[in-house]
Amino acid sequence: MRGIAIYPGSFDPITKGHTSILKSGLVAFEKIIVAVLNNESKEALFSVSERMEMIHESVVDMGASLERIEVDSFDGLLVGYARRRNARVILRGLRAVADFEYELQMANMNRHLNPEVETVFIMANDAYFYVASNLVKEVARLGGNVSNLVPAPVLPRLLAKFDK
Ligand code: PNS
Repeated sequence: MRGIAIYPGSFDPITKGHTSILKSGLVAFEKIIVAVLNNESKEALFSVSERMEMIHESVVDMGASLERIEVDSFDGLLVGYARRRNARVILRGLRAVADFEYELQMANMNRHLNPEVETVFIMANDAYFYVASNLVKEVARLGGNVSNLVPAPVLPRLLAKFDK
């Protein structure tokens, strides 16, 4: 186990797909900084601070050590944030094939911007291969059951957003 990895994303909200990547990431890295993109201007269901609170509660819920997982937010370029945090690795989860092209583009762009930072991919657990925050939000909004797809602390907050 070595080093610090940044696990960046929108996390609107964090799903069980994300927590399974975090669990796997802890096998490989000493510390993971979960970094929420500060994109209040973008259409988001939850504010950045709500998203950070839910990540924090989910980390506690999964029984992971808070000494090894930090929750933060960032603005601007991800590689700039990685440099400020002395991290050499960006951690991303890979799900279905559809993720591949977008992730390849981002990884290559980030390598172009800072060749010292490596992107490391972890394959999503097959149980969560098709779990994406956007789909979870849509299903919850339409009254479908998402209780197995999000960490327990997220569910009441998600349902409250849709008056369910
Ligand atoms: O969960 P997401 O929405 O797929 O995460 C995307 C994220 C936050 C990793 C990406 O949008 C990002 O890194 N944004 C910061 C701006 C940046 O560095 N852009 C250049 C890299 S392509």
